[in-house]
Amino acid sequence: MRETLASSLRTHLGAYATIGAVVTALAGGFAYTAGWLSPGRLTPTKLVDAFAPPGGPALGHRRNHAKGICFTGVFESNGQGSVASRAAVFAPGTFPALGRFNLGTADPGAPDATVRVRGLGLQITAANGEVWRSAMIDAPVFPVSTPQAFYDLLLASRSKDPDALKTFAGAHPEFAAFGAWAKSAPYTGSYAEERYNGLNTFLLVAASGAERPARWSFVPQGPVVPISAADLAARGPDHLEKEIAERVAKAPQRWTAQLTLADPGDPTADPSKAWPETRATVAVGTLVVQRIEAEPDGPCRDINFDPTVLPDGIRVSDDPFPAARSAAYARSFDLRTAEAKHYPSR
Ligand code: HEM
Repeated sequence: MRETLASSLRTHLGAYATIGAVVTALAGGFAYTAGWLSPGRLTPTKLVDAFAPPGGPALGHRRNHAKGICFTGVFESNGQGSVASRAAVFAPGTFPALGRFNLGTADPGAPDATVRVRGLGLQITAANGEVWRSAMIDAPVFPVSTPQAFYDLLLASRSKDPDALKTFAGAHPEFAAFGAWAKSAPYTGSYAEERYNGLNTFLLVAASGAERPARWSFVPQGPVVPISAADLAARGPDHLEKEIAERVAKAPQRWTAQLTLADPGDPTADPSKAWPETRATVAVGTLVVQRIEAEPDGPCRDINFDPTVLPDGIRVSDDPFPAARSAAYARSFDLRTAEAKHYPSR
């Protein structure tokens, strides 16, 4: 009997030891993921915190691209994309689209003319239910080559050291191309007149299984009228939202979805490097924006335009950004949805 009790105790203690080991391993895994074991390592929390202005983030809002306006419409796929990718969104057909025009700022109240980068978050849902999500900007290149460099840029731009940005630019020659665009590119008076570039490289997977690196852009079909920052400022701090609401109420607005296919040797892991203009492009369809939706409490509030949410037929490449973005967007989404009571309602 005693022996039985002793062996039963041993079994129980053994089980507790196993549970203890599992808990320690889980805690270790958590500490690793949170970055506590390696303070120098970049984590989604650090990346997202780095967007916050000195007074703290705007609660309830996206931690970047906080100012924006939601829309619904359709994607008219012409079937041309099917040659390069078996994704159901490239089969001929008309598919629902949900998107958001936005400004690259952490401040939802920023005046339009104070923000250089404009963006487009987009989700297209194919007939089989698979979705293609993307978040694109109007710049032709990303400012830096790696997520770590982007973090360093965010820190430099918030630094009290007046020379921080100059020092950063000196250490990151790739920043020059974006800097030149930001300094010289004209503004436009409408979200409808912007070209939105995905910048990151993805792999298109054909029906045969063949893979080819590609980038994509949504190119406006209507005329583009360049204006100065002063002209834009004169139109008022929230001109872009009012203008797009009025424009879409009068007529649907259209963009051509364009795939750019890489040649061997083109940089796929660095969105700060443009590919030569001569690369093959394929017009795969038209995005038609039909209705401006409410931004507060509208259909865009609870969506995360995570660039790794992709249909079969499009997958991530060796570009390090989509994974880093996915983790950061999830962190931002978790924070803002937990702060829903701070988000303005209609
Ligand atoms: C490591 C690099 C990046 C980080 C850390 C980052 C971070 C973020 C965060 C935190 C959000 C808010 C997400 C949400 O709450 O739903 C966001 C939104 C957005 N980002 Fe990024 N981003 C990065 C790179 C990029 C790149 C390369 C592009 C474009 C090519 C881009 C375009 C956008 C756009 C358009 C939105 C707004 C999407 C929407 O309307 O919800 N970002 N970003």
